[in-house]
Amino acid sequence: MDKIIIKGGKSLKGEVKISGAKNAALPILISSLLTDGTCKYNNVPALNDIKSVNFLLENLGAKVVKTGAGSLSINSENFNNHKTSYELVRKMRASILVLGPLLARLKKAEVSFPGGCAIGARPVDLHLKGLAALGAKIEIKNGYIKAFCSQLKGADIYFDFPTVTGAENLMMAASLAKGTTVLKNCAKEPEVIELADVLNKMGAKIKGAGTPTIEIIGVKELKPAEVAIMPDRIEVGTFIIAAALTNGDILIKGCAPKHLEAVINKLKEAGADIIVKNNNIRAIGNKEIKSADIKTLPYPGFPTDMQAQFMVLMCFGNGVSMIEESVFENRLIHVSELNRMGADIKVSGNKAMVKGVKFLSGAPVMASDLRASASLVLAGLAAKGVTEINRIYHLDRGYENIEAKFSALGADIKRISV
Ligand code: EPZ
Repeated sequence: MDKIIIKGGKSLKGEVKISGAKNAALPILISSLLTDGTCKYNNVPALNDIKSVNFLLENLGAKVVKTGAGSLSINSENFNNHKTSYELVRKMRASILVLGPLLARLKKAEVSFPGGCAIGARPVDLHLKGLAALGAKIEIKNGYIKAFCSQLKGADIYFDFPTVTGAENLMMAASLAKGTTVLKNCAKEPEVIELADVLNKMGAKIKGAGTPTIEIIGVKELKPAEVAIMPDRIEVGTFIIAAALTNGDILIKGCAPKHLEAVINKLKEAGADIIVKNNNIRAIGNKEIKSADIKTLPYPGFPTDMQAQFMVLMCFGNGVSMIEESVFENRLIHVSELNRMGADIKVSGNKAMVKGVKFLSGAPVMASDLRASASLVLAGLAAKGVTEINRIYHLDRGYENIEAKFSALGADIKRISV
């Protein structure tokens, strides 16, 4: 079990290159199951979740070959296994995304029912309801989702909630269904748009991604594509906050600023100077951090994946900040660890009231989920003294070389293997 040790108080300055987006890469790599050609992927981030999804795809019979740094090719010609194990799905909930492709290609699927995780129950009822509407027969038995169909048929589907992976699963299934599918009340996240673009590159006929209504005209087969994964907007937001927290000046390179409008506006309100130029963002911290309120919302609202990181900034605010987590039911776990570092945060239901304090003190803390662990790194960078972060396997799921990137910006941060 590795841990990260940070000696806080350094002002971060310099340049950082953003990695490919985990939440775009996962569905896109899985979409390789939809064709029996060889798909090529570039700018794939080196993350544990990527290793997990590659292992999952190989387990299904796909051939995954590393072709260079951040590049790989996947061939699903001999993809023949329709079962994924509990072990695989337990590690990574996004494994549920194989359901659509399995039904579309093999007409059957046996996927372990994904359990919840630290941040919530994470149900998949909307995925299953949508696939059933396309004609899949689904039963849940012994902790497995068992599904089969003769041929998926287009249908009109309304999502009770704009689920991101729900829209992605259904787009992939409907791409090879017979007839037209209309998905309504869809998630508008950039990762949904990215997957639709990749599927269209493979020959799918998808319109409306990024709007609440997505139309998919089923085709007979899809051909392989070559794709570069888009930059990770959550990593960008994390580095902007790192600059704001440490009175730093960071040039964040290779981003897509349009994916971060809600975050950029809110961080400007909190007193950071943010200069956007093409696909680079310069983030400059200022002495005073202004308290500001947020409510996390589906895109284009303030992203839930940035809530924990923003909360750390508010710990240094000049007043009181109200933070409301409206997407997941249990995504305030990081509060107790921040309070151990001297923060003044009170939680009531899914709301946190953050009263700014003069400083945080370094302490041994425990990561609990991916974004909470990123918030503990940020807190350690800004705190006085030494912070030791345990269980950083959570961090390794979604941040590539995070300690190397912060160290290059002047942070005193190191990873030790225990
Ligand atoms: C995706 O998760 C992301 N993961 C999450 O990022 C992100 O936080 C989330 O979208 C919201 O933006 C990936 O893309 C791999 P949802 P997803 O389905 O698709 C409820 C990270 O840290 N819901 O949009 O699982 C659900 O309970 C991760 O990178 C149902 O009720 O999220 C939640 O309250 C964390 N039934 C809400 O919708 C369903 O069938 C949002 O879930 C599906 C979802």
